[in-house]
Amino acid sequence: MLDLCNKRWPRKLLLIACLLSVLVCVLISYRECCQPRRRDDSFMDWGRGRNMVRSVWDEEISETFLSGRRQYRMHLQQARYVDANYNIDVRDDLPANPGPLDPDRRARRDGVRRHRVRQTNPHNPLAFGYRDDEDRSSGTDATLNPLSSSLNATRKLPQVIIIGVKKGGTRALLEYLRLHPDIRAVGPEVHFFDRKYENGLEWYRRKMPPTIARQITMEKTPSYFITREVPARVYNMSRDVKLLVVVRDPVTRAISDYTQTVSKKNTKRFEELAFINNATGLVDTSWSAIRIGVYAKHLERWLQYFPLSQFMFVSGEELISNPGKEMGLVQNFLGIKKVVSEKHFYFNQTKGFPCLKKKEGSSSPHCLGRTKGRAHPDIEPNVIQRLRDFYRPFNMKFYQMTGRNFNWP
Ligand code: A3P
Repeated sequence: MLDLCNKRWPRKLLLIACLLSVLVCVLISYRECCQPRRRDDSFMDWGRGRNMVRSVWDEEISETFLSGRRQYRMHLQQARYVDANYNIDVRDDLPANPGPLDPDRRARRDGVRRHRVRQTNPHNPLAFGYRDDEDRSSGTDATLNPLSSSLNATRKLPQVIIIGVKKGGTRALLEYLRLHPDIRAVGPEVHFFDRKYENGLEWYRRKMPPTIARQITMEKTPSYFITREVPARVYNMSRDVKLLVVVRDPVTRAISDYTQTVSKKNTKRFEELAFINNATGLVDTSWSAIRIGVYAKHLERWLQYFPLSQFMFVSGEELISNPGKEMGLVQNFLGIKKVVSEKHFYFNQTKGFPCLKKKEGSSSPHCLGRTKGRAHPDIEPNVIQRLRDFYRPFNMKFYQMTGRNFNWP
């Protein structure tokens, strides 16, 4: 072996082998360092993804991406709101729908929204998901309330109902109460106990907005107060329900009722409808505008089912002249913190009524619509006097029953 190595030709061979291996090394390092690099797989994926996003940017993906970001921003706002307040009512802070979408696209978009919010902040206790489909399909004012969904919001039967009276100021009361974060109310009148009772309690429950534990569910349907079957039906739903009745001087209320009828159809003069015989002055109690104002009679029926302590009789007059104070009494009765106060209202000279400085979920002033606060027709003073005489004993009885003197003339 040693002999072999000492010979000249194997040494040459060794040198060639060394040179060859150096050459190979140089080639390899050249390939590694200096040749243009081929895109690897992940780069290719990224490129493909980017192209895909770009190609459909104006379509679904751009929309879902944007709505996802918006949703997240909203999400943070909600969290801050919860920190700052002890309760929430965020549905009305939702940004406006970005634009018309067909139902399929909307469903897909919502699907991605849910996903994205979870991804963005998976540990946030407010991370939401729709609890059930009914939240989106029932069309109440709380259909898209991600936050209340996240806090185990459920639809409950109402614990408070504004049961009357028509033209008493029920809409004003509802709108004012909705400013309160502990109140969630159905906007439109539900008419369950008087017209849709056969739909069943489950139907009624589904009409309600989702609420979290400390929130009160409520609705208003003023015809409940005067409908014979309603007290028993409400009692069957819950014997603990609180009942709000907005009452107003029954003569003014009757004229307000008549004004509403006239605004919808041609009808006889008020005087002709109010009396069976104008000469004798016998009041026509079969005319609903008159009958509704006999509050004591209607209340008697309710008191067969509910104790007086479950009622609050809100003064329709005070709701106009001193809304902050009257709302204080209502919140006290409902056992909720006094949130709605004088500072929420201003008197609008043009409308001639109090308006809200800020509507629920908005920062601009808000007055009730044109159908609230209509100009009343002139009614002959002697007609008004006769109606006042008619109502007086019923009013006295009503003050006695309720323990509140409304001082109607
Ligand atoms: P008028 O339109 O006859 O004035 P309801 O909401 O129960 O139908 O009651 C309507 C009545 O609410 C109105 O009757 C009006 O007098 C009274 N009302 C109370 N507060 C009001 C407000 N802030 N704006 C308008 N109307 C109000």
